[in-house]
Amino acid sequence: MRALVVVASRHRGTAEIGAEVATTLRAEGIDTDVVDARFHPDPAGYDCVVVGSGVYFGRWLPAARRYVREHATALRTRPLWAFSSGPIDGSHQGDAAAAMPHVLVDVAPAGHVTFGGRLVSTALSRRERLVARLVHAGTTDYRDWAAVTRWAAQIAASLTAEAAHRAPAHWDGASA
Ligand SMILES: Cc1cc2nc3c(=O)[nH]c(=O)nc-3n(C[C@H](O)[C@H](O)[C@H](O)COP(=O)(O)O)c2cc1C
Repeated sequence: MRALVVVASRHRGTAEIGAEVATTLRAEGIDTDVVDARFHPDPAGYDCVVVGSGVYFGRWLPAARRYVREHATALRTRPLWAFSSGPIDGSHQGDAAAAMPHVLVDVAPAGHVTFGGRLVSTALSRRERLVARLVHAGTTDYRDWAAVTRWAAQIAASLTAEAAHRAPAHWDGASA
């Protein structure tokens, strides 16, 4: 079974979550690639896709939004999960009830979750630093690795169950 993890990340915080998802899926025996959304990886040839993006000004990053729109048909026809990474105030630690980004409505993922984000003040652009200062946000890391691993393990379990359901029943030849 092959999985594709697609990430859009400005400062690597979301990319590292994608890498952790991939590590968990691989540990569960699923052959997994992680690719930046800017490289437009083709979902063809993969049994499932996980898409994740950092949240900026209330929206997914443009590369992630573009990716979902461009590949909407392929994403609709295979198991799809999505995650957002954003809140830097501890308000969403692996929150499955958080609002789903609008761009995902059309592709209807099997699940969407919001993980806490990370901010590294020194890595921000001048404009980003200004915004961070306005909301009194300093360097912080609210990524909950246990929640990320748990979520990825649920995806693996769901894929494995689905594959077992699709497999033909075992025939031992005794009844012929
Ligand atoms: C300028 C700026 C705007 C942000 N806007 C939001 C936002 O609207 N909602 C949110 O939850 N997080 C927001 N964040 C927090 C980021 O989503 C968080 O830092 C995330 O981990 C960044 O991911 P990345 O490192 O992959 O780019 C913002 C951060 C910056 C610097």
